[in-house]
Amino acid sequence: MEASMLEETVQNPNPYPVVADLHYDDIWQLCTQARELAWDPHLDIDWQALRDELKDLPEEVRRAGAEWWSLRAWMEHGATPYGAERLRQAIFEHLPFEVKQHVTNFILEELRHHEVSFRIADALGGYEPTPSSDYFQMIIPKFHDERDEKVMPFYAGMAVNTLFEQLSGELLMARYKNARYPQIRRACELVLRDESRHIQFGRIIMRRFFDSLGLEEKRLLGEKFAKKLRGSLLNGVYAVINLPKDERERSGRARSLAAEYGLGATHPDEEVGIIAAALATIRKDVAPYDVPIPVIPEVEGENAVSTLAAE
Ligand SMILES: [Fe+2]
Ligand SMILES: [Fe+2]
Repeated sequence: MEASMLEETVQNPNPYPVVADLHYDDIWQLCTQARELAWDPHLDIDWQALRDELKDLPEEVRRAGAEWWSLRAWMEHGATPYGAERLRQAIFEHLPFEVKQHVTNFILEELRHHEVSFRIADALGGYEPTPSSDYFQMIIPKFHDERDEKVMPFYAGMAVNTLFEQLSGELLMARYKNARYPQIRRACELVLRDESRHIQFGRIIMRRFFDSLGLEEKRLLGEKFAKKLRGSLLNGVYAVINLPKDERERSGRARSLAAEYGLGATHPDEEVGIIAAALATIRKDVAPYDVPIPVIPEVEGENAVSTLAAE
């Protein structure tokens, strides 16, 4: 073989020993629940019924709905490369079987959330594989920055992710309540059922591993959480508040329209309140472990005080 080809070969770390005995019964329990509660986006939603339900919607509303569900599909997809990296890490750090199984389930579940979302976008008139606005095209690749992940230990990084699961869970609940069409409502319900396990995983991580994190790791955890929230999730993903004015107005209008017609969306005015309430809960949850989460001024107000300073 030529030397240049050898250089291109990816060097995988040694996966052995492959640990097969179970260490964490609560994580394993999530894995068995995932098997029992598995669902199929293709079969568990009546797509013909959905197309019939939606066919009389005004064209403008269909377009807004397709944009909304395309955005949802991109967001769900964003979790899959992140999950793939974590699976790789879990394998090469020789983590117990149930941790690898949970991460594998996580990838599969986020991918089926992606599928159900692009199918709904299609039923509304067409999934968009890339965002129509240039700005979004810049933001979307920033959802997952592996450089931010690599500076944290495995469980601390997973903890940051699960704090976002908690936040997005609150938004998804509001979108489920907004969904007026039975098939969209059903899809939201199935997604939420998976998400509640992802949130549960976060609680287990907090309980089991937060005490072992050093001060510097906790500081980093809070900082990465705030960075991701402000830098990408408030830029049109969870909410539109950090978007440039024009794009904020345009995408805000589309979201409002999708919400007004009960397509399983959240109104931009409603989103910030939901995020603020979820943030307050997260601050309370991490307070016993002394994890300092910086103030998010655009959500909490300029005069808000960071978790620990207030306690
Ligand atoms: Fe998801
Ligand atoms: Fe999730």
